[in-house]
Amino acid sequence: GLVNSREIFRKAVDGGYAIPAYNFNNLEQLQAIITACVETRSPVILQISKGARNYANETMLRYMATGAVQMAKEMGVEIPIVLHLDHGDSFELCQSCIESGFSSVMIDGSHLSYADNVALTRQVVDYAHAHDVTVEGELGVLAGIEDEVVAEKSTYTQPDEVEDFVKKTGVDSLAISIGTSHGAYKFKLKEGESVPPLRFDILAECQKRIPGFPIVLHGASSVLPEYVALINQYGGKMDGAVGVPEDQLRKAAASAVCKINIDSDGRLAVTAKVREYLQNNPSEFDPRKYLGAARTELIRLIKHKNETVLGSAGKA
Ligand code: G3H
Ligand code: 13P
Ligand code: NA
Ligand code: ZN
Repeated sequence: GLVNSREIFRKAVDGGYAIPAYNFNNLEQLQAIITACVETRSPVILQISKGARNYANETMLRYMATGAVQMAKEMGVEIPIVLHLDHGDSFELCQSCIESGFSSVMIDGSHLSYADNVALTRQVVDYAHAHDVTVEGELGVLAGIEDEVVAEKSTYTQPDEVEDFVKKTGVDSLAISIGTSHGAYKFKLKEGESVPPLRFDILAECQKRIPGFPIVLHGASSVLPEYVALINQYGGKMDGAVGVPEDQLRKAAASAVCKINIDSDGRLAVTAKVREYLQNNPSEFDPRKYLGAARTELIRLIKHKNETVLGSAGKA
């Protein structure tokens, strides 16, 4: 059923795995997430971003998530499901999500000054905890696009700030910046260059300051080359798309990183399969056909993530 993140994060940190946080904007994505997580017996975080609310309407998405919880139950396996606000940008937004039944919220004050980030996050935590809702905060800035905010350059999390931030705000988990970034173009590589490894040294320094405290990674899609190749093969143009290698995420999941955010990988899977299907079936016009093909691939992708990258399979 619907739960906040407290207990599943505790178990994930202790067990050396990470809970997947998948964004959803539509029916097929949500069906795929629930189906794959029930079939792999994985706890799951359903994330709703500002872009998702603008696209599909917050009330619609919330009722869909409630339906998804019921669907999981009817599949005969109870998995913990968190309904989480992704990148909340104001107290009022977090408050309205908490009032409407979200079990977890993120307040992203990472673009503010340290003092303003602390104050805003504290305000959200006070309200959320009174409603048994957990809160994710963020320190450090990821490169790439966070909703409407575009950061040109990342600023790594400063390990010296994390203990003070966690103490002063009372957050339940902390997103940090160690080299991941949002979107499908995470690294600008020159000819012959390979993806720079994540800054595991910064992660280790953070863990030293807040031992056992739940840490979150945003921008953790791997931008799987087979999807990029399919997209390019079937009329797309995504040259230079590159993500975080899966072995880096495996290593992170084994640490105090207990939540890994994945959105772009699912978008790529859907786009690849829709392009392929339409090209191969030019007279087909039933959206269930090409969205169905996309949904089948999404289920496969999510099972793969849960089973072989995050290690969350079998932990429900
Ligand atoms: O953090 C970004 C997430 O992938 C959500 O993106 O705002 O385009 O829905 P979005
Ligand atoms: P990706 O763009 O790497 O999938 O990151 C998603 C994310 O961090 C959502 O908050
Ligand atoms: Na972990
Ligand atoms: Zn994010």
